[in-house]
Amino acid sequence: MTGRISIGVLLCVCCYTIHYSIADDIQDNACYKDENGISCHKTTYKLTRLESSFVGSIKEVVLTDGTELELKTLSLKPLIFELPNFLSEEECNHFRSLAHDIGLEPSQTLKEKTENTNFNILDLDGDRKLSVPEMRVTIEEAFDVYPHDEDILEMYAETGLDANNDGFITPNELNKLKPSDLQRYVRSFVQNQPEKHARLSNQVWLYPDNSTDSVFERIQKRVSEIVALPIELVKLSDFQVVQYGIDGHYNAHYDSTPVDSKYPCCVRFDKRNCRICRYMTILFYLNDVQEGGETAFPVADDEMFNATEVKLDKRNLFQKCDEAKLKVLPAKGKAVIWYNHFIDNTTQWLGQLDQYSIHGGCPVKKGKKWIGNFWIKVTDNKDEDIKRMEKFI
Ligand code: OGA
Ligand code: FE2
Repeated sequence: MTGRISIGVLLCVCCYTIHYSIADDIQDNACYKDENGISCHKTTYKLTRLESSFVGSIKEVVLTDGTELELKTLSLKPLIFELPNFLSEEECNHFRSLAHDIGLEPSQTLKEKTENTNFNILDLDGDRKLSVPEMRVTIEEAFDVYPHDEDILEMYAETGLDANNDGFITPNELNKLKPSDLQRYVRSFVQNQPEKHARLSNQVWLYPDNSTDSVFERIQKRVSEIVALPIELVKLSDFQVVQYGIDGHYNAHYDSTPVDSKYPCCVRFDKRNCRICRYMTILFYLNDVQEGGETAFPVADDEMFNATEVKLDKRNLFQKCDEAKLKVLPAKGKAVIWYNHFIDNTTQWLGQLDQYSIHGGCPVKKGKKWIGNFWIKVTDNKDEDIKRMEKFI
């Protein structure tokens, strides 16, 4: 028998506290209305990013209404903060009851809803054939469905896709099955297995138009102060309430999309082919979860980050939440803030997607989980964004 020596390492977590008000920073960026009309400082307008030098640091923030909050750094890559008690008990209840009154509906991703006749074949090692894990990842990306490796083998046996039975699918073999047939097969396969879907939750969009809810207005102002972005920009955000029951989860994903010259960023009610662009996410926990339901960041501050490995092995949070580098515990009223994008050096506006910002919701083990997603949206067209912001003055 081999003996094991375990060495206890006492980690000294240093915290520092700064009292500061960020109201001055905001004024520099904000739009103004005076007798000459509206002005948004078009030339000097820039996005801001909170600063932090180390994980575990805590800043004490005093808002203009006197509220004191603690901003704790959870990771630097991506930059994530948490703020306990960002919302009051009543504010959480307000959003939940509003969501309830409007009516929540099952969340469905676009890829689950629509027919996909054209998908990327993820031959990750470039050997011109798909291994079982590569086929699994291809299916995940094409249809937002998460089969297990054994399911893939079962599919080969049932469809005869792997004609020579060698466990690899060549382009020739793949050509025998139409994308729509593959999708139909995969869909029926997971129909009664919710854990094999990318997402299992109910949701509702609140405030699709200019809101007149005083609670929401108060929260928008609070968000604007805490992230040091002008209220006019914060008012362009989307707000969604999501409810998860037992086994409810959301596999790892990006809330935004990579910079892409082919598709412009979507604006509200966009009819074009467009991509979703969300500079920041502010996630509120609207209740205490009895067990599970953490928000997981599989590669937070991971020095070994490898995009292929993420695809192959880290997105299925229903199965692999415990392997995530960072898991944030839900607590009623807590806000988690992170940046999905960097700031572009030239425009000082929306920059590259942060590859590390991939995240999702771990399965709920006991009780329910309610969250609010507050997405700060910025597009790749700064002038148009500023025009939209001016409407809110
Ligand atoms: C989302 C999301 C995480 C969670 O809704 O986009 O990432 O903890 N949710 O529920
Ligand atoms: Fe998300």
